[in-house]
Amino acid sequence: MARHLITSAIPYINGIKHLGNLVGSQLPADLFARYQRARGNEVLFLCATDEHGTPAELAAAKAGQDVADYCAEMHLVQAQIAEGFRLSFDHFGRSSSPENHKLTQHFAARLYEAGLIGEVVEKQMYSPTDGRFLPDRYIEGTCPNCGYDSARGDQCDNCTKQLDPVDLINPHSTISGATDLEMRETKHLYLLQSKMKDQLEEWIDTREGWPVLTTSIAKKWLNDGDGLQDRGITRDLDWGIPVKRGDEDWPGMEGKVFYVWFDAPIEYIACAQEWVNANKGDNWERWWRTDKGADDVTYTQFMGKDNVPFHTLSFPATILGSGEPWKLVDYIKSFNYLNYDGGQFSTSRGRGVFMDQALEILPADYWRWWLLSHVPETSDSEFTWESFQSGVNKDLADVLGNFVSRVTKFCRSKFGLNVPEGGEMGAREQALIDELTTRIRAYEANMEAMEVRKSAHELRAIWSAGNEYLQEAAPWATFKEDEARAAMQIRLALNLIRLYAVLSAPFIPDAAARLFSAMNTLDTGWPDDVATALGALPAGHHFDVPDNLFSKITDEQREEWQTRFAGTRD
Ligand code: 2FM
Ligand code: ZN
Repeated sequence: MARHLITSAIPYINGIKHLGNLVGSQLPADLFARYQRARGNEVLFLCATDEHGTPAELAAAKAGQDVADYCAEMHLVQAQIAEGFRLSFDHFGRSSSPENHKLTQHFAARLYEAGLIGEVVEKQMYSPTDGRFLPDRYIEGTCPNCGYDSARGDQCDNCTKQLDPVDLINPHSTISGATDLEMRETKHLYLLQSKMKDQLEEWIDTREGWPVLTTSIAKKWLNDGDGLQDRGITRDLDWGIPVKRGDEDWPGMEGKVFYVWFDAPIEYIACAQEWVNANKGDNWERWWRTDKGADDVTYTQFMGKDNVPFHTLSFPATILGSGEPWKLVDYIKSFNYLNYDGGQFSTSRGRGVFMDQALEILPADYWRWWLLSHVPETSDSEFTWESFQSGVNKDLADVLGNFVSRVTKFCRSKFGLNVPEGGEMGAREQALIDELTTRIRAYEANMEAMEVRKSAHELRAIWSAGNEYLQEAAPWATFKEDEARAAMQIRLALNLIRLYAVLSAPFIPDAAARLFSAMNTLDTGWPDDVATALGALPAGHHFDVPDNLFSKITDEQREEWQTRFAGTRD
């Protein structure tokens, strides 16, 4: 039995995520986790909320809440929505957990001892009124480029120019409105990644079969301009993990916290500790420590392309730099962006369909199927309501749903609710078994390789093969001349329904569960041998006709949703 550690990029806490976020990490990670479990492998699938940083502070302030309370509440909201989408995390942790505090401070100590942390004195905007340094986003003023009066310290939303807070005309604090801002010196810690450039480059060069999207981004950061840059890993914020070396205070760093991107990936490890501390598992080290059994683990990370630099460079630098035997990632599966109806999904502007809204209008499987079969794998892709309607209606309702309905209803009317006996299979059935064998082996290869679109394509072809067989065998016609033959055809088709449930479960788990229940079986065994798998439901086995598996999306519904989601969410 192989062992798979799987992590999805951990979503920011500041609000409910949109479908673009979902399809770029959590959903394909779930597909892979479900597939590996279905193949009998041992899986630890982890995700968490990313709770630190300015965006969390800002979102809490906007909600008028204390940031810790805000995070606790939003964590529960995100956990509930993840469950709604059937994301099968073994644990959904929190980057603000005590486990992550301790581990982040531990890594900082190890990196310091290894000479990989430097102290740098910088100048930053300070607000005496607020009694704190202000992150760029906490400063607003007039844009020197276009005159827009609410440009942020890092960027003007009107003309998109990247800015430095000192560029702003009449800058003020967004916390208090104070204008008496001044530049003050402040000390920060830097992770000296540049010292590790060769080691990181060699590690990346020796990874086999990594997606080009992943390695090209990593190489660009390694070699563009002056090469790999050292990275600031501390901030002048209240909310975050206090800067310490292990349990010890860090002289001169009092009141500062680690930068959110330093502690976020460390949460992948801390999350496994949380999983144990929540009594869901009993040993996290056999997943994460190569000296404690993790050397036979295959570790796969899923993420959007914007996250690649941190996962190919900064986090490996943290792990390698610690000099301790932590498990390094084996494969990074990264994704392009999903766009929304001619533009971008945007959390800050509330544009697109958000995860809670999606579940309000249709069950998870409908979204899972469309999103996974259109995942932005080789290039950006686009969500349109027309494409969504067509994917759901054609693939789910016309192909899979229709097959199940025709077979079970026909059997009920002619043979009753038990699998009929029938005669021997013939050449047409053998041809179907041969085709399915070829296609299922291809499906397995694509799923192993995390080729999500190709896997969806193959699964759809597997469903279609059943429909084509039914159309050609035409048991309703056979029945008039040769009842035993029609019974055999229907016995095969009922077994195909169970087979479809097994194969489809990673994509559409709820529909698969309904099929298993209708077929009255707990046998979820993988079809290593297709002919054997098609004998799993023997003659005489009772089954039920399931309620309609998928409803078609009508033109009226599509138009209504198109209008409803055309604007922005508050
Ligand atoms: O892009 C994001 O949503 C980040 N919160 C991802 C962090 S992934 C990791 F480092 F933990
Ligand atoms: Zn501007």
